[in-house]
Amino acid sequence: MDTRPIGVYDSGVGGLTGLRALMRLLPGEDFVYFSDSGRMPYGPRPIAELRRIAVQDMDFLARFDVKAILAACGTISSAAREEIAAYPIPAFGVLTPALDAMAAVPGEGPLAILATAASIASGAFTGALREKCGGAREIVGLACPEFAPTIEAGHIRADDPVVRDCVARALEPVRGRKFDAVLLGCTHYGFIEDAIRAYLGADVPLLSAAACGAKALRDYLVQNDLTGGERCARRFFVSGDVPAFERFAEPCLQIGPVHAEQAPVMEL
Ligand code: DGL
Repeated sequence: MDTRPIGVYDSGVGGLTGLRALMRLLPGEDFVYFSDSGRMPYGPRPIAELRRIAVQDMDFLARFDVKAILAACGTISSAAREEIAAYPIPAFGVLTPALDAMAAVPGEGPLAILATAASIASGAFTGALREKCGGAREIVGLACPEFAPTIEAGHIRADDPVVRDCVARALEPVRGRKFDAVLLGCTHYGFIEDAIRAYLGADVPLLSAAACGAKALRDYLVQNDLTGGERCARRFFVSGDVPAFERFAEPCLQIGPVHAEQAPVMEL
């Protein structure tokens, strides 16, 4: 048993999809969430920068004596696999559990991955999934650079024309195509899954990398007898706009008022 908090981080509100999944899987645990929105977006950044950011963000959370960390960010998870694996506190990304879930999708039809420009360019998602599937099925990777900044600006409703247009622009290359499953490889994308489904077809199975990562972290804590938080205490730190984060997080988490604390913008 370990009553210390669990740390979760992302470039912004996207990681709240991971936090929300963790709160359902591990009710009672304490959490410290870090939204690095002062440096968002991570998606267009070079890999070397993302690796440094990953360590800085984990160092920030380590100050709160967290027992484990979820990098609730597909971009960091794909760029900084080694940094996450080598971190002195048990740390997990969303990449491997998401790819395992995709590789387990039955059928022989094509699979698609939607993610940030860095995640797609690195090939970490698409290349690794192709290998896992043994070249047996088509893997389509699509960078959606507009999604995360649009969501961060508060546009998430499927009937919001800003969301509809942004989804239509990004998914135009796969218009009319049928996939056995589509991975939301960026944790922000869960907030616009209705709009994505409306474009790709109501029956398309959408897998959430954030939820896959949350399950992997829960399994690790359970297997190692490290669960045990009881206070449901949550702290939120934001390196960007604190009120904007609070406005977004409150309806998303449904835990009452969210009070976030200002964090510094760390220098690279
Ligand atoms: N939420 C992030 C991800 O999962 C990063 C979005 C961004 O900052 O570009 O990739």
